[in-house]
Amino acid sequence: MATPMSNTTVQPYPILRYPDPRLLKVARPVAHVDERVRTIVQRMLVTMYAAQGIGLAATQVDIHERIIVIDVSDTRCEPMVLINPELEWASPEKRRGEEGCLSVPGIYDGVERSVAVRVRALDEHGHSRVIEAEGLLAVCIQHEMDHLQGKVFVEYLSPLKRERIRTKLLKAQREAARDGGAAPARRPRTTVVAEAQP
Ligand code: NI
Repeated sequence: MATPMSNTTVQPYPILRYPDPRLLKVARPVAHVDERVRTIVQRMLVTMYAAQGIGLAATQVDIHERIIVIDVSDTRCEPMVLINPELEWASPEKRRGEEGCLSVPGIYDGVERSVAVRVRALDEHGHSRVIEAEGLLAVCIQHEMDHLQGKVFVEYLSPLKRERIRTKLLKAQREAARDGGAAPARRPRTTVVAEAQP
């Protein structure tokens, strides 16, 4: 395990996979934005980029605190950090878009979301700011805030679809455990898995 790089390289967190019951936990607010929190943020960003996701909620890495990281840029170098996000406004206008989730690999389906939102959150320095978002960013913020409430996007789908997804993912996890032995949940079966991809 100990390599010369291990002191300086931040390792990605393992990502919980649906239907892991830990994804249902409600996250608690962060009391102080300190070094401990910044370390979590840093490792969440590494995890999100490594998994080729555009967003990640702390809940998905089994940390039940209100922390979200997002990067919807094409360049993959515009990280956003939302700590203790509060929804101030959501547009009455909604649109149905295709979403995926790093915790539900290989599954994409339509979810209806507000097309624009306004959110207040702390950044990694503890500064409060307001984010006005529309389009992909708005969808991503809503998707990630759901995670903090213990809600995975498949909850918006029909019970039948949800059951199919549950069965499929459990089977995939069993097969991965049998084939690989180690950490089945870490290895998505698809090449591109985007969190909240429209
Ligand atoms: Ni997700």
